[in-house]
Formats: sequence, structure tokens, C-alpha cells
Amino acid sequence: MADLSITVNGLSLPNPFIIGSGPPGTNANVIGKAFDEGWGAVIAKTISLDASKVVNVAPRYARMRAADGQEVIGWENIELISDRPFDTWLKEFRLLKQKYPGRILIASIMEEYSKAAWVEIVERCQEAGVDAFELNFSCPHGLPERRMGAAMGQDCAVLEEVCGWVNSVAAVPVWAKMTPNITHIEEPARAALGAGCEGVSAINTILSVMSVNLDTLRPEPTVEGYTVPGGYSCKAVRPIALRMVMQTATMMYGATGLRPAGPGAGPADPSGPTRELALPPYPDRSLSAIGGVETGEHAAEFLLLGADTVQVCTGVMIHGYRMVKDMCAQLAAFMDRKGFRTIPEFRGAALPFFTTHADLVRRQAEAKAAEKAAAQGMVTRDAAWSGDKFVEQSSNLVANQ
Ligand SMILES: Cc1cc2nc3c(=O)[nH]c(=O)nc-3n(C[C@H](O)[C@H](O)[C@H](O)COP(=O)(O)O)c2cc1C
Repeated sequence: MADLSITVNGLSLPNPFIIGSGPPGTNANVIGKAFDEGWGAVIAKTISLDASKVVNVAPRYARMRAADGQEVIGWENIELISDRPFDTWLKEFRLLKQKYPGRILIASIMEEYSKAAWVEIVERCQEAGVDAFELNFSCPHGLPERRMGAAMGQDCAVLEEVCGWVNSVAAVPVWAKMTPNITHIEEPARAALGAGCEGVSAINTILSVMSVNLDTLRPEPTVEGYTVPGGYSCKAVRPIALRMVMQTATMMYGATGLRPAGPGAGPADPSGPTRELALPPYPDRSLSAIGGVETGEHAAEFLLLGADTVQVCTGVMIHGYRMVKDMCAQLAAFMDRKGFRTIPEFRGAALPFFTTHADLVRRQAEAKAAEKAAAQGMVTRDAAWSGDKFVEQSSNLVANQ
């Protein structure tokens, strides 16, 4: 039977599923519910020292549905961080740690560009007993106007300085949460790790405009006729999150994805590259993946790309806290089917299979795939595309149908 437990930065989790910062961790009541349902850890909604500066609006969500009109595939929010008083949060952190002493409670924190403010928020939260911190360098809307959130996450020098302030006083592990609204996510991740953070979380929401109403001609979600670009999440963002987690993991653990601490599992495909033991840049740091996870199989994909843990936010808003039970069963079934007993046995095993396009061309030529495809009547050259068969022809070129 698969063992789903995982230890990250000295924190022991019964499974890799973590409530991502947002509405599912909005107060002690719902955080307790998450622990009761079996989540491996909870990251509370992001907090700051002065909640009176945080003013939310309504509506603040907009959803994209699939063609059936039911299934939600994309979710935009223009929600800010928590508008509940900091002292209330400290009381609730204390209560939660009394009631659930063995469970992992992570405070998500955000502050302005002030050493005193960051030091104060870290010291007061850790006095309240939180097990770790996640630094929100990634909220894409609203707070950048105060040079917080993504505004910090997009400036590597500022991010590195703030991580240094935090790590000068933090006595518990610190993860830095990355914004995807940047060209090279590895750069802020490297800055955070260089400044002593124990881990990186990726990704926060992607800057978006959900839609324009064709009756009112106004963009949505509409607040008094106006809007602001918001953060996009849910299953539509998963491919982008997978890519950014892969790039971050490759930067942290090297192209082999193998960490000396792991038991050294071979690649899933024995004909693939050998996972030789090299010393990667950050072998002892952790990576928490986020973005569009709703099943155990989705989680397995992120783990195969080097993540230690997997966070879920929008999925919980759609499916409820109980989804963790299904996700655990699905992940365990995947591991049993592939013969993996523990997560470190397969963590990062898909990383060695990324290469350059030129290398793909070389491999395909060697395999004489072009001749084979031509023999089967498949399209192999641009010139062979004809408009009337466009859908059929493109289907022939799609993998995983
Ligand atoms: C309504 C909403 C509020 C969020 N609030 C926060 C927040 O306060 N702090 C934070 O770090 N991330 C916040 N997030 C981002 C999520 O934690 C997560 O990074 C992102 O939504 C992608 O994961 P998902 O597809 O599982 O939701 C929020 C997301 C949503 C949808």
C-alpha cells in the first residue's frame, strides 16, 4: 500500500495535499474543518498587520464554464488579502495549534516594503505558534498599488532583500510564493532561495480579464460599471503551472530532478536518460506546486515534475473540503499501479524528459516517424494542409487523444 506521507523542511505531513492560501483558509473554523477532513497542511488566507487598509469589493469573482454550461474551468478573482484584524488571526492561530498540535499550520504573510513591518509580522505570528511561513510575493491585483504582492515578486532585488529580513528572524521554515506574471520564474525563485528561504511555492494566479459583456459593453466582473484585471486560477491554468513548476524544479534540482536525499529511483521509462546523481543547486529545499489541481492524478503530475507538496485553492471552493479523500485515494492508486511505495521514489522522475526542439527533430528523424506517418496518410508537411479537412488533420497531430 502506498505511503502518502512526506517530510518537507522538517515538517511531517500525512499526505502532500495542502490548502492553498485563499477563501478555503479564511478563518479558524474552516481551517479546523480542513484538518478534520484530512488535509496534509493548511496555508491560511494571506494576512497583514493593518487589515483596515484592505477594502474588498463585490462581485469579486467571475467564472468561465465549459461548453456544457456547468463545469467551471477558469476562475478570475479580484479579491484582496484578508480584511480580518491581525489580532483576531493571532488568537485563531493559537486556538488552532492547541486543538490540532500535530497538524501543520502555515501563515501566509504580506507587508509593505518596510523591514520593521516584515520583522514584526514574522515575530508575532511565530509567537502564536505557526509551523511555517509562506511569503505572498504574488497577489496580482490591488496590492501592487501599495507596492506589495506581485510588485515585490517581479523585482528580484526587492524580493531578495525582503526574504533576508524575514529569514533574519524566522525560526520556522519559510516558503516564497512566486508570481507567474513574469517571464523567467526561476529568477525570483533563485533570489528567494539565495536569501535563505527553505522553499518555493508556484504559482499564484495569472493576470487576466475574464470577459466583456456584449450587452453593456463593460468588462467583467463589473463593480459600478468598472473592473480591474484579476487573477486567473482553476483547471485552465494547470498547463501553465506545470510548465512553471518544471522550470523551477529544474533550476533547484538540476535536469535530472534527482535529490541526493531521495532513494534514487530510476526513470519511469528505462529507455530514457539516466538519472545520474549530480549535486543540484538546492537539493535540500522544497517546492510546493499550485494551479488547477482537482484530482490525485493532477497531483501526481506535479510530483513527477519535482514538487514535494501540492496546494489546492479554487478546487476546494468548487468541490468542498472532502475532495482530499478522493485525491488521496487517486494518488495512492496511481502509486500502487506504478509500484511506487513513497513519494520521493517518483518525485521529479519526469524532469529528465524535457529537451530542445532541435533534439526532438533529431529523435523523430532517427525513428523514421515521418515515413511511418506518411504511410498512414497523416499530414507531415505544411503544404499538405487543406482547409476543408483542417479539424481532422489537426486531430491527427494531437497526442493523448
Ligand atoms: C478567490 C481567491 C483568493 C485567493 N487569495 C489568495 C491569498 O490571499 N493569498 C495567496 O497567496 N493566494 C491567493 N490565491 C491564489 C491561490 O492560493 C492559488 O495560488 C491560485 O488560485 C492557483 O491555484 P488553484 O487553481 O488551485 O486555485 C487566491 C485564489 C483565489 C481563487
